[in-house]
Amino acid sequence: MGKVAVIYAGKYGTTKQYAQWICEETGGDLLQAKACSAQMLQAYDCIVFGGAVHAGRILCIDRFKKWYPEIAEKKVAVFVVGLHVEDETQQQELRELNFLKAESSFKMLFRKTAGSTRNLSEMETAISSLPCWFFPGAYDPAKVSGTDKMMMGMVKKMLEGKAADALQASDRKLLAAIENGADFTERSQIAPLADWILHAEK
Ligand SMILES: Cc1cc2nc3c(=O)[nH]c(=O)nc-3n(C[C@H](O)[C@H](O)[C@H](O)COP(=O)(O)O)c2cc1C
Repeated sequence: MGKVAVIYAGKYGTTKQYAQWICEETGGDLLQAKACSAQMLQAYDCIVFGGAVHAGRILCIDRFKKWYPEIAEKKVAVFVVGLHVEDETQQQELRELNFLKAESSFKMLFRKTAGSTRNLSEMETAISSLPCWFFPGAYDPAKVSGTDKMMMGMVKKMLEGKAADALQASDRKLLAAIENGADFTERSQIAPLADWILHAEK
C-alpha cells in the first residue's frame, strides 16, 4: 500500500470529515488541497482526492487536474461529496462535467446534457477512468450566506418549478434538505474506498 495522502477540498466541513475518517482507517496523511502541490505529492504512493460539489463543480478539481500528469504513475482515486449524488445518471453527469469539461457550468442542475463533443486528451481519458466514489453530504441553511445562499435559492426555485410528477425521489430529498437542512454523512460510506486503498493493486 505504501504511503497514503488524502487530500480534501470543501467549504463547510463534510469533505474534511470524510477525509479524516479515511485517514483513520488507512493511516493516511490528511492534506488540504489549497495547501498542496504536485511536488509534495511525490512523497506518496497512493493519492486520494476528495472534493465537495458546489453548483455542479467539484471544488479544486482544476488543481487536481494540474497535478495529475505528475502523479499519474501512482495509485490514484477520487471521492465526491454532495447532496444529490446517489443516482447513476447524476454521477455520470458529474463525471462528465468535472473530468471532461474545462469550463464551469450550472447546466447540470437544470438537467441539460453535459456531453462533450471534443476528442478527449490522454489525460482526460485517464482522469475519467479513475476509481471514483460518491458520498452523501450535509447542508445547514443557517451556515450559508452570500453567493452560496443565492445559489441554493436558485436550485430550490428550479426544483419548485418542476411539475409534481416530474420530481424524482432524489429531487424531493434535495428540496427538503435545502429547506430544512440535512446531514447524510455516514462513516460506513468510506468502507469500500478504504478497502481499495488498503488492498487494491494500482
Ligand atoms: C452553494 C452550494 C452549492 C451546492 N451545489 C451542489 C450540487 O450542485 N450538487 C450536490 O450534490 N450538492 C451540492 N451542494 C451540497 C454540498 O455538496 C454538500 O453540502 C457537501 O456536504 C458540502 O461539502 P463541504 O461541507 O465539504 O463544503 C451545494 C452546497 C452549497 C453550499
